[in-house]
Amino acid sequence: MAERNILITGGAGFIGSHVVRLFVGRYPSYRIVNLDKLTYAGNPANLADVERCPNYTFVKGDICDMESVCDLLLRYEIDGIVHLAAESHVDRSITDPFAFARTNVMGTLSLLEAARRQWDGRYDGKLFHHISTDEVYGTLGPDDTPFSETTAYDPHSPYSASKASSDHFVRAYHDTFGMPTVITNCSNNYGPYQFPEKLIPLCINNILHRRAIPVYGSGDNVRDWLYVEDHARAIDTVFHRGCPGESYNIGGGCERRNIEMVKGIIETVDRLTGKAPGTSLDLITYVADRKGHDLRYAINASKLADELGWRPKVSLDEGLERTVRWYLDNRAWTDSVTSGEYMRYYEAMYGGR
Ligand code: NAD
Ligand code: TYD
Repeated sequence: MAERNILITGGAGFIGSHVVRLFVGRYPSYRIVNLDKLTYAGNPANLADVERCPNYTFVKGDICDMESVCDLLLRYEIDGIVHLAAESHVDRSITDPFAFARTNVMGTLSLLEAARRQWDGRYDGKLFHHISTDEVYGTLGPDDTPFSETTAYDPHSPYSASKASSDHFVRAYHDTFGMPTVITNCSNNYGPYQFPEKLIPLCINNILHRRAIPVYGSGDNVRDWLYVEDHARAIDTVFHRGCPGESYNIGGGCERRNIEMVKGIIETVDRLTGKAPGTSLDLITYVADRKGHDLRYAINASKLADELGWRPKVSLDEGLERTVRWYLDNRAWTDSVTSGEYMRYYEAMYGGR
């Protein structure tokens, strides 16, 4: 019998696959059940190295299907949930907000309700850990202090509005039903297995194909970047030692303007592919700004550092180097996820550029 039975939702996606890999490797006495619908963003190949581990089980399914989720919680005697499944791309939320309300809001509610029914007030040893984003806090001016856990929610995109709503439902299940919950709000992640619709893998892929790199607006928007394995470690820390009812911010303490990031990626790719420095700078193409584009995100992660001792370990230089090397070594992975639906998406977003 397993010591614990943990459900991870969205484990075939970018961050989820790193969380599954960490938990499966680090906790051989746990059974890890990964529930994933395998949308365009979910890919079993992200977990090819994990799929035969005896403590790992994959279940294809939709978090919105509450009856099936109830069955799954019962069948595997789930006592902990790490909830990552979501629609996660801001640009897609602008063209299809309903998909975000369905998965991020209704899906989270369905998961909460299934857990409430299954756990039925027996909350000892149970935990619902909801993975959220810093984007719920809205946007900062250049001199504003970084977001803390007490910053008022002020989402602007359909994506961040849906994540904010899901956070509120998680808190409501804690406050109303006494369910032990924790929420983590993390800054922008990067690393291996990120779907190439997001800035960093999109840049790497476009440089390798000598395609234009679309920089929205002036390129002066600021993001706080965190290497994905540091996020997975933070989730592990909060899942095991976080205080129920609390939320924790997670961030890299590493703010960069988008244009600086793009230039850093170009430098790294050119160097690692043996090109002269600056070869790919000509690909930088300023395009129309994203609607409602938040200017700046920055995270104050001192609560997590002071109370639970987590700090990021991987610097931006080291993380970018590892990330670019991974994409160079795994071009078949990128090729497999950039056919079909991706090309239609890309054409609609960026046209012939
Ligand atoms: P992703 O888009 O790479 O992966 C999402 C996963 O969820 C996919 O495997 C997909 O198949 C699955 N999924 C989608 N809808 C589902 C449904 N209805 N039922 C079951 N599975 C479903 O996302 P990501 O970037 O890995 O983000 C994971 C989580 O972390 C999300 O909740 C996101 O809001 C949050 N987050 C992401 C970042 C970031 O920088 N990527 C930062 C902070 C927080
Ligand atoms: P993204 O990776 O989509 O993450 P998020 O919107 O959640 O922060 O975008 C990161 C930043 O890069 C954001 O300010 C938008 C910008 N961006 C571009 O300039 N060009 C692009 O092609 C993409 C995808 C993003």
